[in-house]
Amino acid sequence: MDAIFRGVRVVPVLTIEREADAVPLARALARGGLKLLEVTLRTPAAPKAIAAIAREVPEVVVGAGTVLRDADVARAKAAGARFLVSPGLTQELAAAGLASELPYLPGVVTPSEVILARDLGFSLLKFYPAAGAGGVATLRNYALVFAGTAFCPTGGVSAENAGDYLALPNVPMVGGSWMVPAAALAAGDWDAIAAEARRAAAC
Ligand code: 3PG
Repeated sequence: MDAIFRGVRVVPVLTIEREADAVPLARALARGGLKLLEVTLRTPAAPKAIAAIAREVPEVVVGAGTVLRDADVARAKAAGARFLVSPGLTQELAAAGLASELPYLPGVVTPSEVILARDLGFSLLKFYPAAGAGGVATLRNYALVFAGTAFCPTGGVSAENAGDYLALPNVPMVGGSWMVPAAALAAGDWDAIAAEARRAAAC
């Protein structure tokens, strides 16, 4: 596994609407013990949010998620993202991800997608949407057939089930948004988010 993921068990998946939230949000999560963050490229503010975190919160590693096309790889890299995550995988994305020289987690659901990702050289994959794709039971089966492939489930992971995923031998880390409640983010309640992060870090 790439060095930046070593020891990381929980990855906040952040969708940031207001650029000004980026730095205090990253600091709150880091205060709670979560120091590797994914900012999804789902909002116009995302590239600037990544850049602000990379510049002003050196204690965290920030990456870009929801990478859907090769132009997103360039955008994320220019913003200062240190890793890339996609919800799926195409030949074009795989080529752009590998050429970026950043750690890149393509997304998979099915066994055929896992085989394709392995053939393309990837050994750490995002399993998305985890809950809708059979969750823990599916990943338990994958542990039997896909030796050497690790998964980061996201999509429906929560404080309640994160531990079940993390108990699997092929799941070194999980991702999700549960530790950033929408109301706390809207209110700028950074202490509440730090407390949620602390709970998540203990999963
Ligand atoms: C992702 O892209 O990983 C998901 O949007 C996170 O899913 P969650 O909001 O259900 O945690």
